[in-house]
Amino acid sequence: MSLSILGGAKTGASVREDGAYDRYFRPGFVHRDLYVSRDIFDQEMRHLFGSTWVYVGHESEIPAPNDFVTRTIGRRPVILARDREGAVQVVINRCTHRGAVVCRQARGNADRFTCGYHAWTFANDGRCVGVPLPHAYGAGFKLADQNLRKAAKVESYRGFVFAAISDHVPPLIEHLAGARAYLDQWLDRGDRLPVVVRNGDMQFKTHANWKTVYDNAGDGYHPPFSHISMLRVFARRYGDVDMQYYSANFDESPLLSADLGNGHTLLDQRPAMHAQSAWERQHVMPGREILWDQLNAAHGPERALDMLDASTGWGLNLNIFPNLLIIGNQIQIVEPLAHDLTVVHWFSTTLEGAPDEVNAIRMRMQEDFPSFGEVDDTAQFEACQAGLDGVPEMEWVDVRRHLESGVGRVGEDGVWQEPISSDQHMRAYYGAWRRIMNASAARAALS
Ligand code: FES
Ligand SMILES: [Fe+2]
Repeated sequence: MSLSILGGAKTGASVREDGAYDRYFRPGFVHRDLYVSRDIFDQEMRHLFGSTWVYVGHESEIPAPNDFVTRTIGRRPVILARDREGAVQVVINRCTHRGAVVCRQARGNADRFTCGYHAWTFANDGRCVGVPLPHAYGAGFKLADQNLRKAAKVESYRGFVFAAISDHVPPLIEHLAGARAYLDQWLDRGDRLPVVVRNGDMQFKTHANWKTVYDNAGDGYHPPFSHISMLRVFARRYGDVDMQYYSANFDESPLLSADLGNGHTLLDQRPAMHAQSAWERQHVMPGREILWDQLNAAHGPERALDMLDASTGWGLNLNIFPNLLIIGNQIQIVEPLAHDLTVVHWFSTTLEGAPDEVNAIRMRMQEDFPSFGEVDDTAQFEACQAGLDGVPEMEWVDVRRHLESGVGRVGEDGVWQEPISSDQHMRAYYGAWRRIMNASAARAALS
């Protein structure tokens, strides 16, 4: 027997109601254990992150043969590398000898990795290419049996590389579902110039569960409250700029939240942000006038405005479950470390071949929100963790907004839309969470 997820999602798959994890959900509420239980965290890392596509990085981070970055799939350390032939590889960064993490650098260029413990050495496609004093392992010992394990599947969608530990995943395109069209829109801005990630990452470590971070990127209810000091400063100094559209009744505005399937969601602020010109609405920042003057002189005002509109924040928050967030022009990875500890990695992006002025303004804008807004959010993440951790007598977390209001509808693009303050993003991704976790538990029970 199946039921609609959390009583709310309209377009997601249904889930069995007799699954091992059903007790953590009731219509409009999720259980605090999802945020505070070490056991559930361990199960998520093993079964959720081990059973679905997980974003590991952008191809432009490893442009040359032998470039690599290290990432995680849940808590599994992995190496995302371009091998000497130029193929993208995702290998599990766990030595086949005694289990040590082999590569301990965040990024670099290497065609092989030597484990620091006993010097077993592996090519960047995972092949074991040497161990010291191998005779002691006996005649049957073969290097080929000692290779690093690899992700079961690796696929790239227009530069976004995803990997899966399990074979039981659909093709990546199918997994992306409705998120694909929005990823395309994001990539097609700025004259379809290639988006590149070359500047490393800015990191925020927060004492909160990873899902609180994921929740927040789809939460269109909090901005005028959590970010009130930032919005007041902008209003006082610059007037009706940026996110001031949150000052009216934003639930009656065309801003919306949408369920894209498979746990992916979006917040769309474009109806307000891009109603006229996103660039003209943007608040003051260093170099703004000079960059405008230079682009205007080189290309004329119409073209200059086009280029700058495309470099201003995108106006969409696109959440791709379970760990990829696209906000403004930035890519974020949510990396869980413990049930109450998470690192958020912010990657800035530039457009290859765009005028320097365009990329300069992109960088100024990308420095903007992480510095002035993410600190507000991080404070709320830690406040949630403290309340949830500290009060076991209060078991349920409220995700009811717009569950019963009856104002949702199918949009022109065929996806389910609700007002921007809806909690449907949580109901939607928890539907995917519950389906994946129940299926893993069912498989474990059969094995
Ligand atoms: S643990 Fe890696 S070589 Fe021994
Ligand atoms: Fe926020």
